[in-house]
Amino acid sequence: MGTSDTVGNNAETYNYGVVRQFAIMTVVWGIVGMGVGVWIAAQLIWPELNFDVPWLSYGRLRPLHTNAVIFAFGGSALFATSYYVVQRTSQARLFCDKLAAFTFWGWQAVIVAAVITLPMGLTTTKEYAELEWPIDILLALVWIAYAVVFFGTIVKRRVKHIYVANWFYGSYIVTIAVLHIFNNLELPVSMWKSYSVYSGVQDAMVQWWYGHNAVGFFLTTSFLGMMYYFVPKQAERPIYSYRLSIVHFWALAFTYMWAGPHHLLYTSLPDWTQSLGMALSLILLAPSWGGMINGIMTMSGAWHKLRTDPILKFLVVSLSFYGMSTFEGSMMSIRTVNALSHYTDWTIGHVHSGALGWVAMITFGSLYYMIPRLYGRKSMASMKLVDLHFWLATLGVVMYISAMWIAGVMQGLMWSATSEDGMLTYSFVEAVKATYPFYVIRMLGGLCFLGGVIVMGWNTYLTVRGQVKVNPVVHVYSPDARDPALLGPAAATATA
Ligand code: HEM
Ligand code: HEM
Repeated sequence: MGTSDTVGNNAETYNYGVVRQFAIMTVVWGIVGMGVGVWIAAQLIWPELNFDVPWLSYGRLRPLHTNAVIFAFGGSALFATSYYVVQRTSQARLFCDKLAAFTFWGWQAVIVAAVITLPMGLTTTKEYAELEWPIDILLALVWIAYAVVFFGTIVKRRVKHIYVANWFYGSYIVTIAVLHIFNNLELPVSMWKSYSVYSGVQDAMVQWWYGHNAVGFFLTTSFLGMMYYFVPKQAERPIYSYRLSIVHFWALAFTYMWAGPHHLLYTSLPDWTQSLGMALSLILLAPSWGGMINGIMTMSGAWHKLRTDPILKFLVVSLSFYGMSTFEGSMMSIRTVNALSHYTDWTIGHVHSGALGWVAMITFGSLYYMIPRLYGRKSMASMKLVDLHFWLATLGVVMYISAMWIAGVMQGLMWSATSEDGMLTYSFVEAVKATYPFYVIRMLGGLCFLGGVIVMGWNTYLTVRGQVKVNPVVHVYSPDARDPALLGPAAATATA
């Protein structure tokens, strides 16, 4: 530990530097990734927006959008919050500053490499795993460093107890390492071209084992880690049920692993595998709602705060969207429902009810809690702007998903409609034409949502401008004491 990390009496300080870096980049990548989202949404209305430049074609910008929002925006948010939470709840500084700095610069390098190679058309073609092998290797190295920093901090913790948020973050770190390495086993044939070691239906199965668990662990379990820290902190109420959080953790981790085949219903994947995937996706609703209920019930006794606190509004609304999108996902896993929804914009609606409503909203709430604390301020520069952001985001997501639901069900019904003599009632292009108005509504909703993130960027600038960067001294309770703000006053004196 360097001298700058310690104060005069040699007390340890928290490493907020790397948390600040990731927090700021979350906002920056949020604007970039969602900006590209609005652009491709506009291209679906006005295809000429690709300006006949291959780099700007829909097929290349779409993976740029998904990588930017999931890995750059979501990933930076997860690094920032997990590093913050693990330090605060372990009462210890992050393990190894240099390695933590490597995770920041390495992660940004992966993102920049994606921003360059995806528009060039360099891709493995596996959804959410498009990056070519040299970038995959860098990503794996960064991820292993992340695991060392995170678990190293847990090892040096000053409390016996490992707070449940760290369980969720820890499982996401381990699982993503396994998923990334196994799904990307490939044979390079040149610097920017490789072939997967799997083929045919095995390739599809491995890809969707990865794809679904990327949703399950990168976009869900990790964000539940955020929920278990920031909801009780902001509501100033201990978590509703600690016991439920542990049951929630194990049930979720077990069940998610089996649900991948719901992405491959009606394919050449063996029938029993599809049925197993469907059954476990239905079971998955129970732990998902258990977690959501645990978060929402933490608000008991603090509901009145919603009238005045826009940060809590973000957190609570995100939990409602979590509940809705998981209910919807379980229903879409039923074969007969999937027969209607698959290939349609209903899937896109489901994705964004999870991505905008849950992932992005809980991120905004958590960042609004964290940013002022990282810069030694009492609150964000303008709480009015936080409120404005909340309403823009809520309006945006509602417009986006309702347009996609209507469009999706309409497409599914039009594609499957047949006349009495067995002919298709509608040609494909008729369904495309009927979808146009909904694409316009989706783009407007996306613009509102993006507008909110830009407001957040401005508010963040106002908050951090000219502020002292603080690295507070680690506050050490007695080794057996748990944080009463998270676990309640009774837990503060209980031995772990
Ligand atoms: C301003 C906000 C956003 C807009 C306007 C937007 C727009 C879009 C559009 C137009 C597509 C392509 C749909 C298609 O091919 O039919 C898409 C796909 C996707 N977006 Fe977004 N998006 C936004 C934010 C986000 C965020 C924040 C996330 C994740 C955290 C996200 C994750 C995804 C994913 C995973 C897909 C691929 C879905 C699939 O293949 O089924 N988006 N988005
Ligand atoms: C109980 C929880 C969930 C279940 C059972 C579930 C189920 C499903 C199903 C059945 C599909 C459609 C597959 C297809 O027809 O191709 C799907 C797609 C998707 N879901 Fe979920 N979902 C859940 C939660 C979530 C959440 C919370 C998010 C986002 C944070 C999410 C993100 C996605 C994405 C990105 C896709 C599109 C994948 C693709 O084809 O590219 N899901 N999900």
